Amino acid sequence: MKVRPLPPFVVNKIYAGEVIQSPSSVVKELIENSIDAGATSIAVFIRGSGLSFIKVVDNGEGISREDLPNVIKKNWSSKIRTLEDLERISTMGFRGEALHSIASVSRMHIRSSTDGVEGYEIYVEGGNLMDMRPCACGKGTTVIVEDLFFNVPVRRRFLSSSRSESSRIKNTWLNYVLSHENIEFHLRSSNRIQHYRARSTLDERIEDIYGIKDRQELKEDDLTVILYHISGKAQRIFVNRRPVVDSRITEILGRYDVKNYILFVEVPPALIDVNVHPQKLQIRFSRSLKFYDRLSRFVRGRKTIIRMEENLFTRREERKEESSDKGIFEWKDYIVVSSRTKLLFIHRQRALKKILESILQSSKRLSSTTLPVPMPIKFRINESDRNLLRTYGFDIVELKNSFVLKGIPQIMEGAAPEEVMEVLSAFSDRKGPFDLKRFINRLLSVASRHYRMKSRAIVERLFSMENPGLTSEGEVIIYELPAEKIEEKFM
Ligand SMILES: Nc1ncnc2c1ncn2[C@@H]1O[C@H](COP(=O)(O)OP(=O)(O)OP(=O)(O)O)[C@@H](O)[C@H]1O
Ligand SMILES: [Mg+2]
Repeated sequence: MKVRPLPPFVVNKIYAGEVIQSPSSVVKELIENSIDAGATSIAVFIRGSGLSFIKVVDNGEGISREDLPNVIKKNWSSKIRTLEDLERISTMGFRGEALHSIASVSRMHIRSSTDGVEGYEIYVEGGNLMDMRPCACGKGTTVIVEDLFFNVPVRRRFLSSSRSESSRIKNTWLNYVLSHENIEFHLRSSNRIQHYRARSTLDERIEDIYGIKDRQELKEDDLTVILYHISGKAQRIFVNRRPVVDSRITEILGRYDVKNYILFVEVPPALIDVNVHPQKLQIRFSRSLKFYDRLSRFVRGRKTIIRMEENLFTRREERKEESSDKGIFEWKDYIVVSSRTKLLFIHRQRALKKILESILQSSKRLSSTTLPVPMPIKFRINESDRNLLRTYGFDIVELKNSFVLKGIPQIMEGAAPEEVMEVLSAFSDRKGPFDLKRFINRLLSVASRHYRMKSRAIVERLFSMENPGLTSEGEVIIYELPAEKIEEKFM
């Protein structure tokens, strides 16, 4: 048989098939383009299952007259210029093929204006530019896709039922609503209208859609993870706000019994490869990130909590046994609690920090201890800051333009002068609002090094709190060693 090149219209349809598999893929690509255009409002209109009509309207930056005929050309994009750009992608799109693919298999109108004064419209049929003319339109872009796959009858025949396609569209749409809280979203399909107004925090947006049962956060230099445990039924994963499918992540969450969740992962764009899947639904993490190990450790922290709660709160008998005197001793930096079925290692300082944090949260002001010798402070602290500090137990007086510390919070008793100054340094030379959270964190860290509390009291207090297994920063407090694990070693 002789080989010969495929005709271009066949090639285009083959490519289009990879990117555009159904109306929901059109919706996905158009919403992503609107997000990349900086839109603050995106409206989607669907008729039926979307095969006959999809319209997406945004108020983004718009497309100029000269660019308009080019956006439907294969591999024309404004988002990537150099190879380096490709290595740190921060936009949803980058291949310059979505509009081209949609255009090749539909009848498409694009109306756009970059200033809300002058606007243009193109009409494209099966990939061929048929018409371009001025139009009256506001700033932004409107894309209308009609008769999807009109020239690919095979694809039409393989599409799923119209009901399931409608729910797929809604599902796709919801991915962007969930991950872009500052954009207002609108969906009208089969006369049903749904609307979410713009929000300033992700928490609010997630709460708008599902109830949040719990929220776990990991914040490190090169990795942030927010795991929402939700009351609704959903499992969704976002990496740098991009919806992705990742069986290893799903497996890790499943392993630790996390059933309904929304997971957000943020990493520097250079540490992931987003260019591995035709619909950009998968990504690859750089090996140096050790992402899956870190995620697994993070989620495991929660498992400890759940197990602790089950064991120590619901079964009171056992709980009594676990906190009874004979089973508690100190070893290195840990309090070890032994019971018939396990050993618990409790990180003493972290446990204290958590306890002190709850004391701080529940008291209006912290009591102060007078220092035997007042301490001079080398920097200025203004009056309102001094008043604030007083509520935390720092007693500062002004003496002829210098400041003297006369009392410190009782919970910090025993702290060295350098440690006290370390806590107060949050106020030195400050311009603008200071970081209260950081100040409290330092205060708690120093206090937890000195606060005196009996091990038994620590254990009892800790287990009366919510999430005894983790500090509010997500550091592990409790490590649990089941008896079987030890017995295994002697088999
Ligand atoms: N809603 C929009 N507002 C402004 N410009 C747009 C819009 N949609 C598309 N464009 C312009 O058209 C170009 C082509 O869009 P297209 O979706 O085909 O490619 P892309 O987004 O660059 O990459 P990808 O194929 O990965 O989505 C974009 O790079 C952008 O410049
Ligand atoms: Mg795109």
